[in-house]
Amino acid sequence: MRIVLLGPPGAGKGTQARRLSERYGLPVIGTGDIFRDHAARGTALGLAAKEYMDRGDYVPDHIAVNMVLERLDQPDTREGFILDGFPRTVAQAQALEGALAAGGRPLSAVLNFKIGDEVAVKRLTGRLVCPNCKRVYNLNFKRPRVEGICDVCGHRLEARSDDDEATIRRRLLVYRKETQPLVLYFWERGLLRDIDAEAPEEVVADRTIEALSDLLDLEA
Ligand code: AP5
Repeated sequence: MRIVLLGPPGAGKGTQARRLSERYGLPVIGTGDIFRDHAARGTALGLAAKEYMDRGDYVPDHIAVNMVLERLDQPDTREGFILDGFPRTVAQAQALEGALAAGGRPLSAVLNFKIGDEVAVKRLTGRLVCPNCKRVYNLNFKRPRVEGICDVCGHRLEARSDDDEATIRRRLLVYRKETQPLVLYFWERGLLRDIDAEAPEEVVADRTIEALSDLLDLEA
């Protein structure tokens, strides 16, 4: 299964990607996570990406594309993968489809998580992330058992540097301009299902599985 998760900031892509990965045993390729990991390690790629991320802008296409295509060459993606946050532009989608077609492994499904802007702002201003095991929490919806501490590994939780309200609104604007066109792009290819993602996490997880089954039947 080769799955793309689309949706604005805060739609729950990362949350649902982790659930799908556990259910189907597929690796998650989260471009935001990869950029943040590089930034934390101080690599040249990470330092370049951080400037864009902290402004709420996208990292240039060629950087994102090269990074993802290299990752897709790794053997753990042979049985499939979950792309979280890639592609985000038509140019990225074309590069991805071209590379996958050349390898004879086209995309299976694109899931489009839909939420309103105010829900996004509420979720993201309340988000806390474990920098060690990457678990995601929320002060409004999913609190850790001990305040500020990861339930799983005991590490101290942090807010993301791009989760202040002004940057979130900028990210939503960039999403609408650059990524919204991909909804039609993938719809026309018969690959896309919309998911109303404003419901609680478990309900969205059920809707995700339903949408996926629907698409995979179509593919078969
Ligand atoms: P990235 O890290 O991918 O950020 P994003 O797309 O803005 O998405 P988020 O991670 O903010 O949200 P999410 O949808 O994953 O929600 P989550 O599950 O965490 O990218 C960051 C930056 O990297 C970009 O701005 C760009 O600069 C750069 N970048 C990345 N990819 C790029 C690319 N391809 N090209 C160029 N640049 C790129 O959930 C959010 C919160 O809500 C959590 O607290 C969670 O617990 C909670 N939550 C989740 N689901 C629910 C629910 N159903 N109900 C209540 N709360 C929920």
